[in-house]
Amino acid sequence: GKGGSGNLRFAPIAPVDQLVDDFTVPEGYTWDTIIRWGDPLFDVADVFDAAHQTPELQARQFGYNNDYLDIIVIPWATDEALLVSNHEYTNHNIMFPETADAAMLACYRKVEMEAHGLSVVHLTRERDGAPWSYTVGNPYNRRHTVTTEFTLSGPVAGSDLVKTVADPSGRTVFGTLNNCAGGTTPWGTVLSGEENFNGYFVGRGTDQEARYGISTAATSYGFETIDPRFDANNAGYEQEAHRFGWIVEVDPFEPQDAPVKHTALGRFKHEAGSIQVGASGHVGVYMGDDERFDYLYKFVSKDTMDPDVLNPASRPHNKQLLTDGTLYVARFTGDSPAAEIDGTGTVPSDGAFDGTGEWIPLVREGVSLVPGFTAEEALVFTRLAADAVGATKMDRPEDVQPNPKTGKVYVACTNNTNRGLEGRAPADEVNPRTANRDGHVIEITEDADVTGTTFSWNILLLCGDPSDPDTTTYFSGFPAEKVSPISCPDNLAFDSRGNLWISTDGQPGTIGYNDGLFKVTLEGPERGRVEQFLAVPREAETCGPVIHDEDGMVFVNVQHPGEDGTWTEQTSYFPDYVAEGATPAPGDWRGPRPSVVQVYRSKRGR
Ligand code: FEO
Ligand code: CA
Ligand code: CA
Ligand code: CA
Repeated sequence: GKGGSGNLRFAPIAPVDQLVDDFTVPEGYTWDTIIRWGDPLFDVADVFDAAHQTPELQARQFGYNNDYLDIIVIPWATDEALLVSNHEYTNHNIMFPETADAAMLACYRKVEMEAHGLSVVHLTRERDGAPWSYTVGNPYNRRHTVTTEFTLSGPVAGSDLVKTVADPSGRTVFGTLNNCAGGTTPWGTVLSGEENFNGYFVGRGTDQEARYGISTAATSYGFETIDPRFDANNAGYEQEAHRFGWIVEVDPFEPQDAPVKHTALGRFKHEAGSIQVGASGHVGVYMGDDERFDYLYKFVSKDTMDPDVLNPASRPHNKQLLTDGTLYVARFTGDSPAAEIDGTGTVPSDGAFDGTGEWIPLVREGVSLVPGFTAEEALVFTRLAADAVGATKMDRPEDVQPNPKTGKVYVACTNNTNRGLEGRAPADEVNPRTANRDGHVIEITEDADVTGTTFSWNILLLCGDPSDPDTTTYFSGFPAEKVSPISCPDNLAFDSRGNLWISTDGQPGTIGYNDGLFKVTLEGPERGRVEQFLAVPREAETCGPVIHDEDGMVFVNVQHPGEDGTWTEQTSYFPDYVAEGATPAPGDWRGPRPSVVQVYRSKRGR
């Protein structure tokens, strides 16, 4: 049978070998790019030329390594949309030639600063369901980078813990770093997770820095060589790193507004933030801290959402919802004896990996509930506060997404090869594999709604290639031979019928296939069926899936294609594939360009 739903029926593709440098879609579908690294946003004169990039040009072009993606169709003009994308990090080795010239290297690093952050890009289409094109110079177009202004909100804004010599107010931050996945709010703003911010800072060797992975060594990005704030050993900048690691809210409909970093949602390696509105109108945000043995969090707003979200008068109120509320961390309890699940991947004696859980409050409305921590400390050093209350150590929680049809919440635990190793936390029922190479997906059912503090859970998938006899896999009981191989689940999305879509990051290193996008049936006799929809090119990660099944369209970010190459020996030529020996047109980069891709039917029959 064919998978998909509505206007997105498809025959699953076969897994694609990791050396293939193609973007692969199902029969009957085609793909093209909406926008690529270096495409100009403000003026067609800002032509991309990889060999002559400057910080000034990059600040006016689409950034690098796009991760989170949404295509927000403008409610009052459905032939227009705003594309919002994060730019997580840069691949210096393939973006620039090697150089021994210090001034040239400094210039490259400044380009990299401008290639980070977020983009807002205006799109148009001829009709519903037609492919999108982006508009150069539209007033909505915007770049936020490592050098643009952000505002701190919530209990930590103005705190001594976030003051620097350049910002004695502790309220204004320049830049956002390592923006990974995110979420779109009902009121039309976008949340963005500042994830591996530690990699940009040189620390002083404190315990708090160590808990966040900030080392005393030089960084690979080298930003500390061109801007003193990236080295905590420089007087006045000891706390600059406290100003990163937050959830950022950007309003694509207000291009002149500085995005806001919401300190009430805690500071950790934020993968993303996904909103669910409770029956009472309180707004919950589910969030993963993507680190081996780190935690799953939830924020619940103090105030309630004005449901008239399209009314411009409601937006100032709704944009304040994430400034005050309660931050919780999750504790999971399994209901089967540990000996039955440890490292085997077999189903426990009660037939399921499952159990109950509770949300433990850390900070409520600016008051700490963790002994030994002020509220400001619990929000800036959230990992340490969560350590203190006995939260459950997870296998790298990435995206956490509520299903808009059922309210159930899905958690992608991408992998944790250190699980159960000597001196590390052993396998348990919710993280049941020792040396978890392929990751798993957990399904959570809140007992009340997003505002509640207790839940039940079960494991939907233990990922892997079910044809590999060495791999323990579990697909909710669905026959393994009918399942596409899948490893390292990362981003999650839903179609309009409530099917789960999973994008992966890391399959080449585990099961030997290029990363891809997979549809998973959640309800009925086919629960647990995994069907592959697309595969990305060599050395790329599939990010930010957007499923507009009613338009028959799927969008993904292709992140870090060809990341193992060098300037002179590239390993991917995605997406333009300039022929060997051909003279590239201006802007045709003889190497890979991270891009936003749209997939749609090649024969539309209309
Ligand atoms: Fe940037 Fe957790 O992936
Ligand atoms: Ca059980
Ligand atoms: Ca991710
Ligand atoms: Ca990942």
